[in-house]
Amino acid sequence: MIRVGNLDVSIARRKVYEVGVPIDLSSRALELLLMLVEANGSLVRKSDIMKAVWPDTVVEENNLYVHVAAIRKLLGDYRDMLVCVSGRGYRLNFETQSIKSSGIEEVVSTSPIRKFAPPVSNTTLFGREKALTDVRSLLQQYAVVTLVGAGGIGKTRIAVEVAHKLSRDFCDSVLFVDLAQLTEPTTVRTIVSEAMGEVETVGISGWRKHNAAMHSMLIVLDNCEHVIEAATRCVENLIATKPGVRVLVTSREPLRAQGEVVFRVEPLDIGPIGVFSDVPPLPSSVEMFLDHASCIDLRFGRDAASVRRISRICQRLDGLPLAIEIASARAAVLGIEALADAIGDRFNNLSGGHRTALPRHQTLNATFDWSYNLLDVNEQKVFRRLGVLHRPFDISDACIVAADSEMTEADIVDAICGLCSKSLLADDVTRTKREHRLLETARSYALLKLEDNGERGVTEQRCELLEYGKSHRAPRVQLNCVPPRRI
Ligand SMILES: Nc1ncnc2c1ncn2[C@@H]1O[C@H](COP(=O)(O)OP(=O)(O)OP(=O)(O)O)[C@@H](O)[C@H]1O
Ligand SMILES: [Mg+2]
Repeated sequence: MIRVGNLDVSIARRKVYEVGVPIDLSSRALELLLMLVEANGSLVRKSDIMKAVWPDTVVEENNLYVHVAAIRKLLGDYRDMLVCVSGRGYRLNFETQSIKSSGIEEVVSTSPIRKFAPPVSNTTLFGREKALTDVRSLLQQYAVVTLVGAGGIGKTRIAVEVAHKLSRDFCDSVLFVDLAQLTEPTTVRTIVSEAMGEVETVGISGWRKHNAAMHSMLIVLDNCEHVIEAATRCVENLIATKPGVRVLVTSREPLRAQGEVVFRVEPLDIGPIGVFSDVPPLPSSVEMFLDHASCIDLRFGRDAASVRRISRICQRLDGLPLAIEIASARAAVLGIEALADAIGDRFNNLSGGHRTALPRHQTLNATFDWSYNLLDVNEQKVFRRLGVLHRPFDISDACIVAADSEMTEADIVDAICGLCSKSLLADDVTRTKREHRLLETARSYALLKLEDNGERGVTEQRCELLEYGKSHRAPRVQLNCVPPRRI
């Protein structure tokens, strides 16, 4: 991905983005822009452009001017970057870019600010228009907004997009602090201070002076769940001492900090359950799948039957972007049918995410391990035991399935609250009752863990007892009835 003024240009994908959103550019203008980017600031001769852009036709030079004008229009404030070298051709002046860029463009420069600038996303963002608007508006009202959701659901991705979109509102004073690699909670404060220090030390050249003085800025604290207490203290301290600061947090569980509002990130749209349509507009999960698969193999099929199969797969993956990303890469190699079979054993078969992704995003297994390892012992027990429940369940169902002689009912209820808070249980709220369920991928993982712990047989018996009792209106099975009776 190469930054050209306000645009990000991907030569491999042949796409142009503005703050992560793909731009519609005519094929000829795109060809021209790609040639200029590839030339990396050198002159591209008019005759070469004409040959490449109109390979089979001889056209008037006026046609070229139309596309030059279209690119300049897109470049907006950076229009001067596209330089006409009289009578000879065109080139991109990357120096203009670095002079103009005093904040956000540091993303691609080598200045010290780069360390805490929001990263540039090089793939299209699907299905998050409303989430972006909602989060922006929450940031106007609340000092701390926490994006909460399951691993791989797209919290970081949304935070990155919001950070770019708000860079103007905060006059480029946007810091992005990724805590994913921290292992020691005490270092949260140090890294945040280091980021804030950047404003002061690099402030005069890199940041708008008045903002540095007023501390009006947006700080994104990304991936906080494993250092949650330290992150909470740090956030509370920040907003108490720097009134102009807004904090956008991403975490698998809420901070429970003062002044915090929680925004739950939902999976991507998967369309109505059990309906697999090939008629546009397609659900965002299906669009994402198609886009990713065709980036790996341009010949990837978009015929009606393939789209319907993909739609089924996306539903089985619960619209989880990370799972879709990994599965689409597999589909591009194995084909859709083989992938559909492989999903049954998704934890063994779905690996091979982006090579540069975080280790915990390389496989679905690693993503769930990260969450599972952060649970306490009771939460782990209850989570894996709930894997036997195929349907939504209430607290008393959960207590029956998860019970053992070591946990009281209160322990199980606590564990369920913990699992909800940590985004491992989804809510199913109807008008009359509140139920919970495990998403399919979480359920498959829970069953693996149950198996590993040698508890699958016993827990399935409990589940059978429960279902039997329900269908025969038998009195509730007693809690703590261990060992479970054989049916
Ligand atoms: N709406 C989307 N459109 C396209 N790609 C997406 C979308 N949401 C997420 N992704 C991709 O899915 C992957 C996982 O997303 P992300 O890192 O944002 O998840 P997360 O919720 O922050 O996970 P974790 O809890 O592990 O930090 C990333 O590669 C990201 O680019
Ligand atoms: Mg994240």
